[in-house]
Amino acid sequence: MGKVIVLDHPLLHHKLSILRDKNTGVKEFRETVGEIAGLMCYEATRNLPTEEVEIETPITTGKFRVLSGKKLAIVPILRAGLGMVDGMISLIPSAKVGHIGLYRNEETHEPVEYFCKMPPDITERQIFVVDPMLATGGSAIAAIDIMKKKYGCKSITLMNILAAPEGIEAVSKAHPDIDVVVAAVDKCLNENAYIVPGLGDCGDRIFGTK
Ligand code: PRP
Ligand code: URA
Repeated sequence: MGKVIVLDHPLLHHKLSILRDKNTGVKEFRETVGEIAGLMCYEATRNLPTEEVEIETPITTGKFRVLSGKKLAIVPILRAGLGMVDGMISLIPSAKVGHIGLYRNEETHEPVEYFCKMPPDITERQIFVVDPMLATGGSAIAAIDIMKKKYGCKSITLMNILAAPEGIEAVSKAHPDIDVVVAAVDKCLNENAYIVPGLGDCGDRIFGTK
């Protein structure tokens, strides 16, 4: 059974408040999304398997833990998910990156797929699907469906910076086996399925498209 992990950390709240501020410009917004992704990556990888190897320190030799070589992949949901990739890669540099392009239909709020490209050995990899926003949950559910059904992935963690309760509930119902890691959970969705109080349209704010 998957877990929902709300990180609820002072550094994350502080940086999230920078994202929430409508006066934060593109440069600071983009940098802050990356920093939050790095902090979240640290927690989301907490249970990665390790193994002991023999290491010679300047003083003596001993057995010490290193990552057991489980292959990882980061899968951003385009566009906004791209903003989280560099922050994660800086901590897990050997991870490969697959891309899923989804946008929400403005009227129905249903996700529409427009792009998908994965590394060839994606099936064997432990997957981190990343997207700053979990609103209705439609995009995350569709992305996880693709990773499971099209690519046969078994080990998937979803990482979102900001979630609505509706999105968490929908993902947990559709994919009860996966872990969901979020920095914070907001109050609700508005009539346009935007998170309230939220931070606005994350993709537009990262790329300066509005
Ligand atoms: C945003 C966001 C998520 C999705 C969340 O993307 O980055 O992918 O909405 O909403 P949901 O949980 O209701 O599906 P958007 O569709 O605006 O595309 P963009 O990243 O290209 O701006
Ligand atoms: N997508 C966003 O970028 N922001 C929201 O609040 C909801 C969906």
